[in-house]
Amino acid sequence: MAIERTLSIIKPDATKRNLTGKINAKFEEAGLRIVAQKRIQLTMDQAGKFYEVHKERPFYGELCEFMASEPVVVQVLEGEGAIAKNREVMGATNPAEADEGTIRKEYALSVGENSVHGSDAPETAAEEISFFFSGLEIVG
Ligand code: CMP
Repeated sequence: MAIERTLSIIKPDATKRNLTGKINAKFEEAGLRIVAQKRIQLTMDQAGKFYEVHKERPFYGELCEFMASEPVVVQVLEGEGAIAKNREVMGATNPAEADEGTIRKEYALSVGENSVHGSDAPETAAEEISFFFSGLEIVG
């Protein structure tokens, strides 16, 4: 399987509860390398642009407000099949449906406050990585 990169976000519910290190340990235990990482505070406008694909959904406003409510940690994860592997480590979007041992099963509070985001495909991974990082900031 090819080496891929994927965009990960540790969301406000998790940064607020000081879970960044525990979540990063899950990625590293799964063989994902954190090749870029920064803690930032999103504006409503930035959150809205990042989640533009969901703008017709009823939860869009709530999602943007949540993402701008506290700092987030944005990161690039690298590894074999990193996109699918990260989604496996994260678990299902709704923590009630997430498998044992996944980040969302252990830490997520609800479908909205679900601790982490991960890109869902190679095209979105490339777009989402370039939304937050320049090539110079990614060191594999
Ligand atoms: P994420 O992987 O970041 O992609 C879109 C996000 O929308 C998703 O995780 C959830 O946090 C959020 N989301 C999805 N469904 C709902 C919902 N029914 N109510 C609130 N937020 C949702």
